[in-house]
Amino acid sequence: MKGIILAGGAGTRLYPASRPISKILLPVYDKPMIYYPLSVLMQAGIRDILIITTPEDSSNFKKLLGDGSNWGIKLSYKAQLVKRGIADAFLLGEEFIGQDSCALILGDNLFYGNGFERLLKAACLRKTGATVFAYEVANPQRFGVVEFDENHRALSLEEKPAQPKSRFAVTGLYFYDNNVVKYAKELKPSKRGELEITDLNKRYLEEGNLHVTTLERGFAWLDTGTHESVLQAANFVHSMQVNQGIEIACLEEIALHNEFITPQELKVQLVNQPNNIYYNFVRELVKEK
Ligand code: DAU
Repeated sequence: MKGIILAGGAGTRLYPASRPISKILLPVYDKPMIYYPLSVLMQAGIRDILIITTPEDSSNFKKLLGDGSNWGIKLSYKAQLVKRGIADAFLLGEEFIGQDSCALILGDNLFYGNGFERLLKAACLRKTGATVFAYEVANPQRFGVVEFDENHRALSLEEKPAQPKSRFAVTGLYFYDNNVVKYAKELKPSKRGELEITDLNKRYLEEGNLHVTTLERGFAWLDTGTHESVLQAANFVHSMQVNQGIEIACLEEIALHNEFITPQELKVQLVNQPNNIYYNFVRELVKEK
């Protein structure tokens, strides 16, 4: 399975903070925002990942993440010249995807919770159809919304409805079979001129091929589109990390856990890393191995 991180867009809601630099590179507490979605794909076991950015931001992403070899993954980059919609990822990514299935995560989505790795692996194992994740929110009109029947089967999907039929938002993490490229090509731009991810998901729903996994109450899903929500996410990460002495979205930890790299390889890399909380956490992990 391949993976795509959609990290384009102007991020105007975060201006002036995001004027000189993509909002996806701004920090959420102690690490750049992109670490969080990248950690999700890595937890799913995905090692071949395309990062879609604006043309101006591409070099900064490369400076931060390189080719991914530090974490035993392969990163490639593609520029989105015009903000044509989330489903455009599959047109831009056609060659990259080839004959594979593909996961997509939005660069501004943060997921954290117990049992997440199991849910991700289950989505990866599904041979056909699409998997999306639903999460109960207070303000569903800001999101794609899924309505369920009494057996919790998905009935309908709507993008930012004025009168939502449920309080379940569709989060920005999607798993698709290889039909996704063909289906994305058949999409027509919406009224706001974008290729909508919700229209793509509707196609799978109509074919009876959309799996909706609901993330439980104790789970945290944050979409960091506004200053308010970036601050909320930073506070969340800070309190979890300080209380538990852990690092959320520590790419080195996931790479070790999934055996993408060996402790010896990591030890060599650590020689050049500073003496700070993040890298000292990684040093402790290596010591334990
Ligand atoms: O976060 C989950 C929500 O994400 C879903 O519930 C919605 O169904 C989905 O449409 C999306 O809604 P947003 O309003 O959050 O989408 P937004 O236009 O803000 O785009 C999300 C991220 O994707 C943002 O960081 C910029 C990036 N993006 C977006 C578009 C449309 C691109 O890189 N290129 C694009 O063309």
